[in-house]
Amino acid sequence: MDVLIRPVQQGDFHVIKSVISKGLYEHYFSVYMNTAFWSIKVQSAMFILSGALSRVLQSDVACAFAIYISLQLLGLFYAKHLWRQHMDEDMKELATWKRFTDFYCNDSGGGFWVAMDTMTSAVVGSIGVKFRPDLKTLEIKRLSVSAKHRRSGIGGKLLMKLLDHCDKMKEEEESNLRGITLLVNVTQQDAIRVYRKHGFKLRKSHFVSCFGGLSYGTLCEYVRPL
Ligand SMILES: CC(C)(COP(=O)(O)OP(=O)(O)OC[C@H]1O[C@@H](n2cnc3c(N)ncnc32)[C@H](O)[C@@H]1OP(=O)(O)O)[C@@H](O)C(=O)NCCC(=O)NCCS
Repeated sequence: MDVLIRPVQQGDFHVIKSVISKGLYEHYFSVYMNTAFWSIKVQSAMFILSGALSRVLQSDVACAFAIYISLQLLGLFYAKHLWRQHMDEDMKELATWKRFTDFYCNDSGGGFWVAMDTMTSAVVGSIGVKFRPDLKTLEIKRLSVSAKHRRSGIGGKLLMKLLDHCDKMKEEEESNLRGITLLVNVTQQDAIRVYRKHGFKLRKSHFVSCFGGLSYGTLCEYVRPL
């Protein structure tokens, strides 16, 4: 599929919101499996609760196991609910077109691009960048490609467009830009592979609270010098 990477337009807004939110939403399962599933705190609570419940019900080991599996499924549903809340919080800059343009397009160094299928004119991916004057860095945000168009080079093309923009900005402004940064959850391995392929290196990683403090995940900061 041929794609054109072009600056975002108002007519793209609802499609990019949907592509971005679906791309984020799909991670709740892997976050749960990487965190709560391996959390001693969460698993011990489920274990103790299933033991207590099976005692109350005067049932056998098989029943205790069934209760434990049910609690695990409940945990997964609860994680889905909490993840949706987290996404609403995380996607604040995408609440309205005005907020979105204020955030990405109305300051120097910022920008937002979409990938458009040249045959159908459908928007299938997005990427944005925000200048961080405090750190003298550019921060990549919202790299996302719709699920059925992945693994055909679109994510890489979006990233290359953005890297071109960053290089131009460095040349034009003779600024003291230090580099390009981004934050990514360790569960987003597809994205991490694309970033590493384009020269990003892990700077640091830290634990973040997940699922209302029930568990912890790992957030990684990747950097590419300019
Ligand atoms: C991360 C993401 C944007 C990557 O998009 P993508 O379009 O699949 O990226 P690319 O196609 O450029 O590269 C992905 C893989 O496809 C491979 N690929 C590229 N062109 C290909 C082709 N023509 N045929 C087969 N494979 C191809 C690449 O080599 C790469 O493989 P690798 O991971 O084994 O190295 C996408 O997976 C996504 O939207 N994920 C959900 C949202 C997300 O996690 N965003 C990151 C936020 S920080």
